Amino acid sequence: MEPIIAGNWKMHSDPSESRKLVQELLEAVGDVKERIVILIPPFTSLPCVGELIRNTRFKMGGQNMHWERQGAFTGETSGLFLKAVGCEYVILGHSERRHVMGECDDVINKKIRTALEIGLIPIFCVGETDGERASGETRRVIERQIKEGLKGIESEVHKMILAYEPVWAIGTGKTATPEQAVEVHEFIRSMLKKPSTILYGGSVKPDNIDVLMKEKEIEGVLVGGASLKAESFTRIVRFKR
Ligand code: 13P
Repeated sequence: MEPIIAGNWKMHSDPSESRKLVQELLEAVGDVKERIVILIPPFTSLPCVGELIRNTRFKMGGQNMHWERQGAFTGETSGLFLKAVGCEYVILGHSERRHVMGECDDVINKKIRTALEIGLIPIFCVGETDGERASGETRRVIERQIKEGLKGIESEVHKMILAYEPVWAIGTGKTATPEQAVEVHEFIRSMLKKPSTILYGGSVKPDNIDVLMKEKEIEGVLVGGASLKAESFTRIVRFKR
């Protein structure tokens, strides 16, 4: 499969900034054939980004969703609404949802189930904190996140994308070395019942993308900060092996 380059814009880019960024990206990498490019803007920018990328090679994802399809859940968004504006993917289990918003494995599992039921491709994120790595707990934490997140849906893992995002590498400029990433990717892969695509995320930048993508274990990247500027994201999309 073609490598996946996904840009998670987090809580950045209002609709007019989003429009400008998409237009620049379409011009720069709209024709790139050997990559799957997924743009993941904040909810309020999804309709305009969805319009702009219609009939292009770019794909779109949401950053989160509720596990119910609709109901009295003030401030939440349904996966069905994401689909209605053109999303094919949804990030679930991102470390900022786990650690800042207090989402636990059980909630993430419910969301993954619903995403699969309604036909969205989950981008299921796992990753250890600095302290967990320092105390030798990386594998234990990743194992728990994978087991709990996939409870009851282990045989559907081929319908998802997984992302290894070490928390200590997110937004810190401290990227995992290719060896560190590969080690965890192999560990994750050993736990899966079926083959699934595994991305790396955490301070992916133009100056480290080539070395990361040289590893065949790393099947793509989930990019935060460097996806907000057309120039840096373009260089990442156009990585060289
Ligand atoms: P940064 O690339 O800014 O470290 O963010 C990574 C991330 O969290 C992508 O989901």
